[in-house]
Amino acid sequence: MMSTQDLDSPKKAAALKAVEFVRDGMVVGLGTGSTAKHMVIALGEKIRSGMRLRGVPTSKETAVLAQQQGIVLIDADNALVIDVAIDGADQVDPGLNLIKGGGGALLKEKIVAASAKQFIVVVDHTKCVSVLGGSFPLPIEVIPFGWGSTAREIEALTQSRVVLRERNGVPFTTEAGNMIVDVHIARIDQPRNLEIALNQIPGIVETGLFVGRTDLLIVGTANGVESHPATRT
Ligand code: A5P
Repeated sequence: MMSTQDLDSPKKAAALKAVEFVRDGMVVGLGTGSTAKHMVIALGEKIRSGMRLRGVPTSKETAVLAQQQGIVLIDADNALVIDVAIDGADQVDPGLNLIKGGGGALLKEKIVAASAKQFIVVVDHTKCVSVLGGSFPLPIEVIPFGWGSTAREIEALTQSRVVLRERNGVPFTTEAGNMIVDVHIARIDQPRNLEIALNQIPGIVETGLFVGRTDLLIVGTANGVESHPATRT
């Protein structure tokens, strides 16, 4: 079993590789989480060496770190035109589909990924799986009103256990004021079909399934980084 500390170097290596794709004057989508944190710090170093950048943060946590690093933030109310977005993931399958939302920021993360000309995903090797699901539940952001009914519908569709996410004994609240349910699906063999079906359920704001969005996957391993560009037909 690898410790969190063991995984910090692969995460950092992947993040540093991704930052090589950032050029002067770009608008960068700033992901959330322990891997994305390394990317934000590396961008701060680029700024201190004279690069001009602006950032679109996917969470308040990332916004605070980015500001500490001297990254000028673009107002989230503006129409987003992002050159490159860099973010972590909780699981990645061989088709570069993702489960995201372990940190609860999936809604902004998906909007930013969708608005980016290039979406780069940075992970350590433990995130790579043959099939999504199993060891990591699928997070889904739901509207508080009638969330129990929404959860029941998700349960019926997926035939899986649905658990309301809590923090300190109370329901976890997202930055958009919604709730998160974690769906314990054994395997997601057809992520695109599942995403489409979930989006038919009233009360679901967004799912943590990121299907066909990754342009480049960078995996940090004990022996360096591996890059996997998307192959799209
Ligand atoms: C945040 O909501 C998530 O989507 C993160 O991007 C994901 O959980 C990866 O986080 P780590 O890099 O900390 O594993």
